Amino acid sequence: MRTQVAIIGSGPAGLLLGQLLRKAGIDAVIVERRSRDYVLSRIRAGVLERGTVDLLAAVGAGARLRREGLVHDGFDLLFDGQRQRIDLRGLTGSAVTVYGQTEATRDLMEARDESGATSFYEAENVALHDIDGQAPRVSFVHGGRAHQLSCEFIAGCDGFHGVSRASIPERALRTYERLYPFGWLGVLSETPPVSHELIYVNHARGFALCSMRSSHRSRYYLQCPIDASIEAWPDDRFWDELRARLDSETAQSLVVGPSIEKSIAPLRSFVAEPMRVGRLLLAGDAAHIVPPTGAKGLNLAASDVHYLSEALIAHYRGSNRELDGYSARALARVWKAVRFSWWMTSLMHRFDDDSGFGAKMQQAELSYLASSRAAQTALAENYIGLPF
Ligand code: APR
Ligand code: PHB
Repeated sequence: MRTQVAIIGSGPAGLLLGQLLRKAGIDAVIVERRSRDYVLSRIRAGVLERGTVDLLAAVGAGARLRREGLVHDGFDLLFDGQRQRIDLRGLTGSAVTVYGQTEATRDLMEARDESGATSFYEAENVALHDIDGQAPRVSFVHGGRAHQLSCEFIAGCDGFHGVSRASIPERALRTYERLYPFGWLGVLSETPPVSHELIYVNHARGFALCSMRSSHRSRYYLQCPIDASIEAWPDDRFWDELRARLDSETAQSLVVGPSIEKSIAPLRSFVAEPMRVGRLLLAGDAAHIVPPTGAKGLNLAASDVHYLSEALIAHYRGSNRELDGYSARALARVWKAVRFSWWMTSLMHRFDDDSGFGAKMQQAELSYLASSRAAQTALAENYIGLPF
């Protein structure tokens, strides 16, 4: 088989890139190792920046988002028992849209199916070849048959554990990483959200987040030990601990119910440089990971593939300047989002800091945030998303 761009991975990055290229008349084949259902079963953060919303609309995957997405003009910080609203709309003139990543992925998958573009799900033994040469190709097994996909470029959109970054010789890559000494225990429940906007909680017992998927489906997170197990967290214990981290008024209004999904995720900051090696270009989680505190993961995947699609379109129109500049352009925005996610994680979580100095720094920063429009504006403009 032959295509112009082989896309590895059918998550948000791969699907959105496929649609952007299709719109420009560039042929791309997606090779995904999991099944459709598996890809759609993953529960992920759901706060979309304006740029991400616009891209989904531009590729014909925005109709349900417009109908069901919840536009949020602000969110609350809760610390020392006090709620402090961050007025996104008032401070920046913009807002965010709460819409599950799973739903965005489903919308993109449906848009791709309607376009008739070729995707291989449940591909096995996916391997990249000649990424540094003039004849890159992807080999894989599908339905028991071996396939060779010749292409001009390979887009590595296969996430943190994918094969693409792993195919780059170590000498050609520099990585930066920070592991956090805790995880997030997440619960999905068919219950009305405790508040109409998100609440990020800094508490001595640990961080908590009150989020949602719709007016009847809530998403809650608790900071938990890095080695915590789901078995140790039955629903009752989860709800009791969440209440313990909320102010009394919010705790009393919390509606609890059976968890329909419960999972523990580690927190990590990670960046691999450069995001291009020869004919292989990385985008999304394949190149970087952020802790979910700032809800940047999906939005960085969107800005990466926005830049990548522009670079590939320019190439096929005769200019390689954008392709040569792709890595630097994408990383400039990636590092700012990595910093913001690290900053918000450092501000809101409990660290085992014996001296207590770290906790004092958090209290001072939160107190400053509560009293300074300038500080709130800096937080708000990062949260709604820096310009593409
Ligand atoms: N071959 C083919 N596909 C692969 C391989 C492989 N060797 N390894 C992984 N994949 C697939 C995964 O099954 C997944 O469907 O690549 C896809 C990568 O999707 P994501 O991990 O969702 O990454 P990305 O598309 O960059 O989206 C980033 O997703 O993980 C969240 O928090 C993250 O919100 C962020 C967003
Ligand atoms: C979510 O709803 O899953 C969510 C929202 C905001 C975050 C992280 C996760 O910062």
